[in-house]
Amino acid sequence: MAPTNQAAWLDKAGSPLDVRDAPMPYPGPGEIVVKNAAIAINPLDTHMQDAGVFVQQWPAILGCDIAGEVYEVGEGVTRFKKSDRVTGHAINLTTGRPQDGAYALYTVVPADKAAILPDSISFTDGAVLPMALEAAVCALSVSVPGEALPGVPTPALGLPYPSLDENKPAGKALVVYGGSSSAGSMTTQLASAAGIHVIAIAGKHNFDFAKLAGAATVIDHKDPEVVSKAIATVRESGLDFVGIFDAISTPPTYAHDLEILEKLGGGHLAAVHPPPATGVPENVNAGMIFAVNDAATPVWRDYVTPALETGKLQCLPKPLVVGKGLGSIQGALVKMREGVSAAKLVVEL
Ligand SMILES: NC(=O)c1ccc[n+]([C@@H]2O[C@H](COP(=O)([O-])OP(=O)(O)OC[C@H]3O[C@@H](n4cnc5c(N)ncnc54)[C@H](OP(=O)(O)O)[C@@H]3O)[C@@H](O)[C@H]2O)c1
Repeated sequence: MAPTNQAAWLDKAGSPLDVRDAPMPYPGPGEIVVKNAAIAINPLDTHMQDAGVFVQQWPAILGCDIAGEVYEVGEGVTRFKKSDRVTGHAINLTTGRPQDGAYALYTVVPADKAAILPDSISFTDGAVLPMALEAAVCALSVSVPGEALPGVPTPALGLPYPSLDENKPAGKALVVYGGSSSAGSMTTQLASAAGIHVIAIAGKHNFDFAKLAGAATVIDHKDPEVVSKAIATVRESGLDFVGIFDAISTPPTYAHDLEILEKLGGGHLAAVHPPPATGVPENVNAGMIFAVNDAATPVWRDYVTPALETGKLQCLPKPLVVGKGLGSIQGALVKMREGVSAAKLVVEL
C-alpha cells in the first residue's frame, strides 16, 4: 500500500499545532524525501508559531531538524539512495513550502543539506545536528557578507572549514558567548576542528559541557567580571583575536560584546539576531547569521559523516526526548519556551 503522510500543521499564528493528513511529498531535482524518525525543536519554531515570522504560506509545517531514512531521491541526486540513514536540514524557513517542514512523517530536504548517519549514531542523536551545524558554518566560514534580513548583513569571518585531520592550531582566538547553547556548542565544535582557540562564556554548571565541545577556556556568564576575564583570557592566549560569536544576542550580551571588542582593538561580531543598530565602533564588523546558507554544502558533503564516524563531530547538546509522535510536538514547543540548558528537545516519530 502506498504510504500516506501526516503533519503537525500550523493554521495561523498563535494557534496550537493540528495533526492531520498532509500530501505525500515528492523530491524535485537535487532533493530527497526523508521518512522522519526523530525531529528536534529550535527556538525559531516558537517564534514562527507565536508570531508567524518567516511563514510564507498558510497552513504551514514548521521545523528544521530531522533524522530518518531516505524514502525517495530526486533527479541528479547521487549521494543518497532509498533506505539510507540520514540527518538533514529542512528549509521551509526560506522556501515557505509545507513539504519542506520537519513536523511531518515525510519531509523534503535538499541533498546538499543532508549527510549519512553512521550506524553507530541513533536518529535521536542525529536530529540535534542540522540547524546548529548550518548556523555554525554561517558564523565561521562565510567570507563575503550576504544578507540575513533586509538591510542586515551576515557576518563574514572567513575562517577555515573544520578539518578531519588532527587540529592544527590556526593562531586565532574566538569568543563564543553562550557556549552551552545548541548554536554556541556547535560553533565551538566546528571552530576547534579548524584549529581555532575557543574561549566560551557559559553557565558555571556547563563548563564541562563547553569543554567537551572543544572550548579551551570557559568563563561564567553570571560572573560580574565576565568582560574583564574574557579580555584577559584573549590577551593571555597571545593569539590573533578574530571576534565574538554571540549565540544569545540580547541587549546585555551585546553590551558585553562591544566592550570586549573595543578593548581588544575591534574584530567581528557574529550575532544570532540583528546586531545593535547604534554604538557599534567602526572597527567592529557586526552581522547576523542566517542558518540556511550554501556555505555549509562542503561541510555536509565532506565532513559530517566521516567526522561522526571518528567522533570528531559529536551530537551535542544531547537530545532530551520529550515525546513520541507528531502529537507530542506542541508540548515540546511549550517546553522550548521554558528554556533548556545544554540540551536539545527531540520528538521521536
Ligand atoms: N539567525 C539564525 O540563523 C539562528 C540560527 C540558530 C539559532 N538562532 C537563535 O540563536 C539563539 C540560540 O539558539 P539555540 O538553539 O542555540 O539556543 P538554546 O540551546 O536553547 O540556548 C540555551 C542556552 O542558552 C544559554 N544562555 C542563556 N542566557 C545566557 C547568557 N546570558 N550567557 C550565556 N549563555 C546563556 C543557556 O546557558 P546555561 O544553561 O549554561 O546558563 C542554555 O544552555 C536563539 O535565540 C535562536 O533563535 C538564530
